[in-house]
Amino acid sequence: MGLTKSNPKTSEPDWATAYRGVNKVPFYLHNIDDKVTNEVRALLEEYSKIPPAEVLKHTIIGRLQRGESYMDVGCFLGQDIRRLVFDGAISDRLYAVDIVDHWNLGFEMFRDRDRLSAQYIESNLLDTSPRLQELRGSINVVSITHVLHQWGWDDQVKALEQLVRLSSSNAMIVGFQVGTIGAKEQPITELARSAAYWHDPASFHTMWEQVSRQTGTVWACTAVLKTWDEIGWNPSDVEYLGPDARVIQWVAERGK
Ligand SMILES: C[S@@+](CC[C@H](N)C(=O)[O-])C[C@H]1O[C@@H](n2cnc3c(N)ncnc32)[C@H](O)[C@@H]1O
Repeated sequence: MGLTKSNPKTSEPDWATAYRGVNKVPFYLHNIDDKVTNEVRALLEEYSKIPPAEVLKHTIIGRLQRGESYMDVGCFLGQDIRRLVFDGAISDRLYAVDIVDHWNLGFEMFRDRDRLSAQYIESNLLDTSPRLQELRGSINVVSITHVLHQWGWDDQVKALEQLVRLSSSNAMIVGFQVGTIGAKEQPITELARSAAYWHDPASFHTMWEQVSRQTGTVWACTAVLKTWDEIGWNPSDVEYLGPDARVIQWVAERGK
């Protein structure tokens, strides 16, 4: 498949670049065959026209969201956007945002440069970007997956405030990330060298209440903790996160 071009910028925080090229760390999976479910295989074979024999070389994590306009924040290669298009979404109504350009690699992986018209915006969610400012108030569905858990409480609030500014009056903001039984600030370790806050549903509600207050908007948030088994991941792959780690899945709907 030839995903050989390296990107001079990386998506990791600075401290994580020390792990580049290193595969003797708990989060490096030597075999990812079990991640290629039938659904993933169908996307790669039918949408990307990748021969079946090559499919297991690819990993994507697909999430389907619908809406009049949709923004995937922290889009990485754009796999979720492709899944939406595969399921019938009109691709010029989709926006993909990332701090680092993985988007071009996504074209190489999905072989759709000539047919995907989703718009990519390179931006740090925590900064103001002119393009994101133009879109304020216009996005109906925002998705942010596996992004918030990298930050402490205050930066998570800042990130959600940005998403609220982007959202339309009837918007839904959805996401998931690493959570935990018993919300807590994670200690800085050799493996994760910046402070991060992992939520349980109660703390996530509290955070949304703060965001609602600070933005003068009303949001109803539902959040659940799921085990690795429940989301289809092999628990042994993420043992290094500790016995209390879970995935927190959530939906925030804007009220009047
Ligand atoms: C762990 S990946 C998750 C990718 C994808 N959403 C998923 O669920 O598979 C985190 C992504 O968020 C992006 N990201 C990290 N910090 C960001 C920021 N401040 N603004 C925008 N994107 C960011 C990274 O570049 C990376 O593509």
